[in-house]
This record gives sequence, C-alpha cells and structure tokens, in this order.
Amino acid sequence: MERLSTGIDELDALIQGYPKGKSFLVSGDAGTGKTILALHFLNACCKDGLRCIYIAMEETPEDLKAQAKSFGWDLAEYEEKGLLQIIGVLEQRAEKAEAEADARMPAEMRIEKSYQNLMDILSDIREKGGLPFLSTGGVGIGIHEEENDVADVIIMDNVGAFVIGIPMPKLREQLDSLVFKLDGLKCTSLVICDETVAKLTDNVMMYSVYGAIKLMKRDNPYVDTRERVMDIVKIRNTKIPLDYMLFDITDKGIVLLPKSETQAQAQK
Ligand SMILES: Nc1ncnc2c1ncn2[C@@H]1O[C@H](COP(=O)(O)OP(=O)(O)OP(=O)(O)O)[C@@H](O)[C@H]1O
Ligand SMILES: [Mg+2]
Repeated sequence: MERLSTGIDELDALIQGYPKGKSFLVSGDAGTGKTILALHFLNACCKDGLRCIYIAMEETPEDLKAQAKSFGWDLAEYEEKGLLQIIGVLEQRAEKAEAEADARMPAEMRIEKSYQNLMDILSDIREKGGLPFLSTGGVGIGIHEEENDVADVIIMDNVGAFVIGIPMPKLREQLDSLVFKLDGLKCTSLVICDETVAKLTDNVMMYSVYGAIKLMKRDNPYVDTRERVMDIVKIRNTKIPLDYMLFDITDKGIVLLPKSETQAQAQK
C-alpha cells in the first residue's frame, strides 16, 4: 500500500505515513495539536507537489497561514503555485447568515438554514465557483467521484464545529456519510473532529475511517507535570505502536519525544 508522509519523520518511522487514498481521523480536546498535526501533513504534501484543499471550519485562512509561518512553512507560496486552496468555511458561514438576515428570515432559523447538511459546505464551495479543484458536474457532494481530478488531499478542520444548529442524531448520520463520500473521492483525507463532538456522536467516524489518531494532554503523576500524548488508535493493514507516544509542540511543530524514564519505571 502506498503511503503519504505525515510530515513528521519520527511518526513516519512508526506508522509509515497515512495510507494513500484513504480517510484518516484526528480527534482530541481543544489545544491538543490537531491543527498543527494537519499542517505538518499539508506542508509535506504541498512540498511534494500534491494538490491540497484545506477546509478551515474553525479559524480564518489567515490565522492558519500565520500558524504555519511560525513553523517556517509558507502556505501562501503553495497557494500561488496553485497547489493549495484554503477554504474558510467560517467566513462563508458568516456571509450566508448575513445574506439570510437581509432576507428577513427569522433569527432562529438562520444557522439551521445555512447548513442543514454537512455536505452543504462542499456544495457551497462549488457554488462560489472559480475554484480550480472542484468539479461543477460532480455527483453527491459536488465533487467528481469517478476520477481523481479534484485534489490529492482534503483536510477538514474541524467537522465538530458543525454541531451548531444540527440535532445530534442527524449530525451522527452526516459524519458517517461524510467518511463514506470522502472515501469515494479516492483522495487522501484527514478529518479532524474535536473530542466533545466525537463523544457526543458515539465516535461514529472512528469505525468507518481507515486510520485514527487521538491527541491528548494528561497528568503524569510521577513527575507532577502534564504531558502531550498521541494514541495511534488504529490503522488498518498496518502494525502500530500500542503505547501512547509522548510529544511536544515547539517552534518546529510537533516533535515526538523518547519515552520518559518515569513512564518506563511505571511500566516495570
Ligand atoms: N510555535 C509554537 N511553539 C510552541 N507551542 C505552540 C506553538 N504554536 C502553537 N503552539 C501550541 O500548540 C497548541 C495546539 O495547537 P493546535 O491549534 O494544533 O490545537 P488544536 O487541537 O487544533 O486546538 P483547537 O481545538 O483550538 O482547534 C496551542 O494551544 C499552542 O499552545
Ligand atoms: Mg484546531
């Protein structure tokens, strides 16, 4: 099976990268490093000349580019080369709500009306037009499903932000079909979902995705500090480490750490 680099050498050594053409779930609480993990991957893919779409549902494309820049990655350069499209759904959501407010829609209906379906985000993007990677003649979610003429990589950060205005059973259903549809696109996709929504939706995506990583902060009682850990929950067809992987976030991004002595002692 072909793999794409995660953009983190030590992680590639452990899991051999993300399986190409499959969907991968990244979950974790707020501030655990989900976006940074995705940025590593995005930067590595663009560097390799792959065409990427980043759907930013929680922050503006500018904030995302600034975060990448702090690690020395120039996303604007990839945008100029036509390799990267960052789509700020947050802004589109605001624009749409405004437009609907103008149309004198009752306030309580606005958000619900904006996006009744998670797939609407992708349709909306298509409606906006002028986006090089999105086919207008596509089926399903508005992206051509038969040929991989869309993009090589799609990153959705964070589908949990979509919870607003959607009843939970409906969201659960949509997350499940999102993974199904993304798989149909044959691109490699990274779906980020915050832990709260992941739990509220019974981890529905965890079962259908090909691989999953969960990021956490936890207390280390042996040294009375908190530490960042990564749980490689599953990757089909791949041998994975069972232990939590310790990591840190530095000005180089995510850095995997050797197992601490305290942890080693605890396991004795
Ligand atoms: N240059 C840096 N050096 C050290 N730490 C950093 C640096 N840049 C960001 N961080 C830390 O990384 C943390 C995690 O960032 P990230 O945005 O990836 O988390 P997230 O899981 O996506 O959070 P959210 O739920 O807000 O989307 C931030 O809270 C910040 O403390
Ligand atoms: Mg984030």
